[in-house]
Amino acid sequence: MSGVIDVEYELPETVAAETTGACSTLHAWARVPDEPSPTERAALKDKIRRLLKEKNAVMVSHYYVHPDLQDLAEETGGLVSDSLEMARFGRDHAAQTLLVSGVRFMGETSKILSPDKRVLMPDLDATCSLDLGCPEREFAAFCDAHPDRTVVVYANTSAAVKARSDWLVTSSCALDIVRALKDKGHKILWAPDRHLGSYIQRETGADMLMWNGACIVHNEFKAQELEALKLQHPGAKVLVHPESPEAVVALADAVGSTSGILKAASEMDAREFIVATDNGMMHKLRTLNPGKVFIEAPTAGNSATCKSCAHCPWMAMNSLASAARVLEYGLNEIHVDPALGLRARVPIDRMLAFTAALKAGQPAGSLVPQIGAA
Ligand code: 13P
Ligand code: SF4
Repeated sequence: MSGVIDVEYELPETVAAETTGACSTLHAWARVPDEPSPTERAALKDKIRRLLKEKNAVMVSHYYVHPDLQDLAEETGGLVSDSLEMARFGRDHAAQTLLVSGVRFMGETSKILSPDKRVLMPDLDATCSLDLGCPEREFAAFCDAHPDRTVVVYANTSAAVKARSDWLVTSSCALDIVRALKDKGHKILWAPDRHLGSYIQRETGADMLMWNGACIVHNEFKAQELEALKLQHPGAKVLVHPESPEAVVALADAVGSTSGILKAASEMDAREFIVATDNGMMHKLRTLNPGKVFIEAPTAGNSATCKSCAHCPWMAMNSLASAARVLEYGLNEIHVDPALGLRARVPIDRMLAFTAALKAGQPAGSLVPQIGAA
């Protein structure tokens, strides 16, 4: 059984344009920095390399940010990865300062896991439609109305929403965790992404009650246009992130998280791939698979909107210039109330323990309590 509740997560553009401090997509796009010239780019990279050493800092970047920020993170001993591995890496690294290029929930998760470290982000207004679409108060009321359900939330949420949950998941481990919960008799309250939630429900058969959130990037992929593109590329395999609509997922040869898509692209025996996820992923896909061709899945079509460009406006706000500036002056530090952080850490630690057990080939299901057990 499932249900939905509606939430407004975006301000109407006319209101957003007049409201200072609000972070609508309109504001986000307006703040995407210009590309630096080759000379500026080289100078900024040098500056960041120097500052990382001077400040005992390490750089952690998401696959969706600008290629410069991905390459520099790897080159300087940091990490480019999905949100799960970013959080784990920051916690385990010896550096005292973490420079997190991505969106706000990623910086907050890092801070919750490493409360004694300084966590800086290039732009604190870089957020996520899933986080914005799941306000703490409404979410708490939803949970209170369904006390018999185990609360599972996606990493793309605020610290307060995490603190209200029993389990945290990312798209790379959600299937395994929900399957284990179902096997132990749990009925689930799921938030915030309804497409990821219903994909997991279809795959596991779990009883899930859904929050009605969506990713403004993945929600824009179009099934009809994808079918037409497949006809033009009959040999291409289709790789889809499960935040995409069901009709798009139905056309996939592989459905996976950011790291799942990377794995499928390197393992599948095809030359061409059509990719339905943020186009920031193309950089890694192309670098790791030089002989293969990657084509963006269509977001344009009869029902397309002006937002249809397959790139997250908030991820795009991260730049070399802002990364250098925050490192130099110690700006844009992430703060999470320590008591809230302790509560929010419980579901994150459960997820990390579960995924570590899975990776080690141990029976991760034993980490999930049986419903009805004393
Ligand atoms: P990952 O958890 O796969 O990194 O995805 C985060 C995200 O924002 C996807 O749109
Ligand atoms: Fe959020 Fe979508 Fe942007 Fe990911 S791509 S950060 S889910 S809005």
